[in-house]
Amino acid sequence: MVELLLPKNSKVLKGKQYLLDKKTKKSKKLSIYRFNPDTGENPSIDTYEINLDDCGPMILDALIYIKGNIDPTLTFRRSCREGVCGSCSMNINGTNTLACTKYINDSEGTVKIYPLPHMPVIKDLVPDLKQVYRQYNSIEPWLKNSKKPPERERKQSPEDRSQLDGLYECIMCFCCSTSCPSYWWNGDKYLGPAILLQAWRWISDNRDEASDERIESLNDSFKLYRCHTIMNCTKACPKGLNPAKAIASIKQKILARS
Ligand code: SF4
Ligand code: SF4
Ligand code: FES
Repeated sequence: MVELLLPKNSKVLKGKQYLLDKKTKKSKKLSIYRFNPDTGENPSIDTYEINLDDCGPMILDALIYIKGNIDPTLTFRRSCREGVCGSCSMNINGTNTLACTKYINDSEGTVKIYPLPHMPVIKDLVPDLKQVYRQYNSIEPWLKNSKKPPERERKQSPEDRSQLDGLYECIMCFCCSTSCPSYWWNGDKYLGPAILLQAWRWISDNRDEASDERIESLNDSFKLYRCHTIMNCTKACPKGLNPAKAIASIKQKILARS
């Protein structure tokens, strides 16, 4: 039988507890993954107890409150605070989602917060997105059109424009890719649902002249065909998009050419 041993420093330890002196009906605990590569210490789970009257209703509000008032070392990404920048994606109670659109009161008991799964961690809740952005670059996500651009814009008919619905709304939060088992195990070669949805966005754009070459470059047993239609990606998308459908559309397009 195969015996698997995890490296010693992968063990997550119990961390610090920051508890309220006075409990109220509005007390809430958040257990948060902490990791600081500079200390050489194992990751830990710190627990913070807050009074919900002190902060806004979202998980991101609680994180900002903790950083501002309890522990300034807590590190996370955020920007827009309204579900459009994609930077506050993290794993909350076992589900990848956006901290700014997730209500604290959706969780009963202690809220458990981890970084997006199966990504290297830079610090605390901040995953290292270098690989996924290299993959994004590899699909050349820009309009390729050799014709002289018109003065104002390249117009589309409403019907052509509608082909981009369900694709242009992607905010690159990577909740989908980091919930995909195929991406967990083959993320160095498989492009994963977020990048494949983006690839389909450019293939679907009638103003782009490179759809044949784009399709050809995706016709690869690892880049595309590691998707086994498990559908975790679609379930995870906080914007309600369907990356699994986009992947199926790429496969159909390839099939139609052969
Ligand atoms: S449908 Fe494909 S991309 Fe989506 S989770 Fe499953 S294997 Fe991953
Ligand atoms: S498809 Fe959805 S989950 Fe995936 S990166 Fe785009 S917005 Fe995020
Ligand atoms: S802060 Fe921009 S999506 Fe949450």
